[in-house]
Amino acid sequence: MSITGIKGMNDILPQEIAAWQFLEQQARQIFRTYGYKEIRVPVVEKTELFCRSIGETTDIVEKEMYTFEDKGNNSITLRPEGTAPVMRSFIQHKLYNEANSSKLYYMGPMFRYERPQKGRYRQFHQIGAEAIGENDPRIDAQVLAMLSHFFEAVGITNVSLQINSLGCTACRPEYRAALIEFLTQRLDSLCDDCKRRYTSNPLRVLDCKAAGCKEATLQAPSVLEHLCQECDQHFSTLQHHLHALKVEFEINSRMVRGLDYYTKTTFEMITTALGSQNAVAAGGRYDGLIKDLGGPELPGIGFAMGVERLALLLDQDKLQIEVPQLFIAALGERAQNEGFILLNHLQRQNVYAHMDFSGKSLKAQMRLANKLGSIFTLVLGDNELDTATAKLKRMADGTEQEIKLDTLASTIAAALDAEGI
Ligand code: HAM
Repeated sequence: MSITGIKGMNDILPQEIAAWQFLEQQARQIFRTYGYKEIRVPVVEKTELFCRSIGETTDIVEKEMYTFEDKGNNSITLRPEGTAPVMRSFIQHKLYNEANSSKLYYMGPMFRYERPQKGRYRQFHQIGAEAIGENDPRIDAQVLAMLSHFFEAVGITNVSLQINSLGCTACRPEYRAALIEFLTQRLDSLCDDCKRRYTSNPLRVLDCKAAGCKEATLQAPSVLEHLCQECDQHFSTLQHHLHALKVEFEINSRMVRGLDYYTKTTFEMITTALGSQNAVAAGGRYDGLIKDLGGPELPGIGFAMGVERLALLLDQDKLQIEVPQLFIAALGERAQNEGFILLNHLQRQNVYAHMDFSGKSLKAQMRLANKLGSIFTLVLGDNELDTATAKLKRMADGTEQEIKLDTLASTIAAALDAEGI
């Protein structure tokens, strides 16, 4: 029996890769203009890092982490998200002392042991960005503007931005107390998880998908009515900047997010096109995280987008599939050998050229060229080699032009350029 991959962990196949490369390339291009630099951190970290940052009573830490003991009996975890590892690295390498290292982006696999379904996987990929050191709500607005810019650039339009504020260490305790009091009166309707954690982490109950919890919390107190003056001012100034930058948004005071490190601004980019997996991107401010992880007292804000979800929303028709620019069909042994050298010469001049090595008939070679979607074909036989000229055929309309073999690369480049390919 052949061995298959692990449930919820997908291969990204060659026919899907154009979408992934497009998304990654657009992110790199756009993030660059806002001053972000790429950072690459390991996919495994000490388990403690995630417990301390994401929070002991979150679903991620309680149920979803891939945690193992390594051969030295250390508890290590496959990263379920990117913010904590990036902050760990930021602190460890004292990046706060470097100019140009306060805006960081990353892309790569994350791991959560969730029940797989469309848009939800156990290995999934994020493209994330983090801006460190800035309290001013202008940075919140700029992060959201960059996110909207990205969605516009990749042509994903069926999304909407929801924002909220979760307050700070000054006002959150008061809100938590109000929420706990509210939940205490409705304990019977809550699911077992929420009954257990409603005092340690009452905000989680607002995020619970269980029908009873949803119903019971319909009239729950709003976090926005419990913000301190500073948080309230920060949130309204953010809205003012978003209007100024023409970033559309809605306020959703029930959005609490599934990670405990958030303070003040939180947000999600929501779609209705992916069923219950409706968040394509999400993030927020984490003003206490760097200090909690042993670093200096620096605020931060960022987001991560789910690449699988982005790829599902992408208009695949707009993607350019890579096809050979030239297929060399060889007639006879001499042409096969000379053609092989010509092929290499073209490849070294950046022409995506292809040839069959299995000795197919001319007809079968042409069929293959067609199947691969090659833009041009060139038939090479003794006659062509003797005269150093050949007919370059454009497959789309069958037109042919006679060309000198030594100008092949430049002729193809010019023809493709003229057609904007
Ligand atoms: P998150 O909301 O847990 O936030 O994940 C961000 C995005 O990752 C989600 O909106 C979703 O698109 C994608 N995602 C999450 N879980 C899965 C899954 N099982 N399968 C497929 N896609 C998934 C964070 O991870 C924070 N670190 C974001 C952040 C950055 N906050 C501040 N900076």
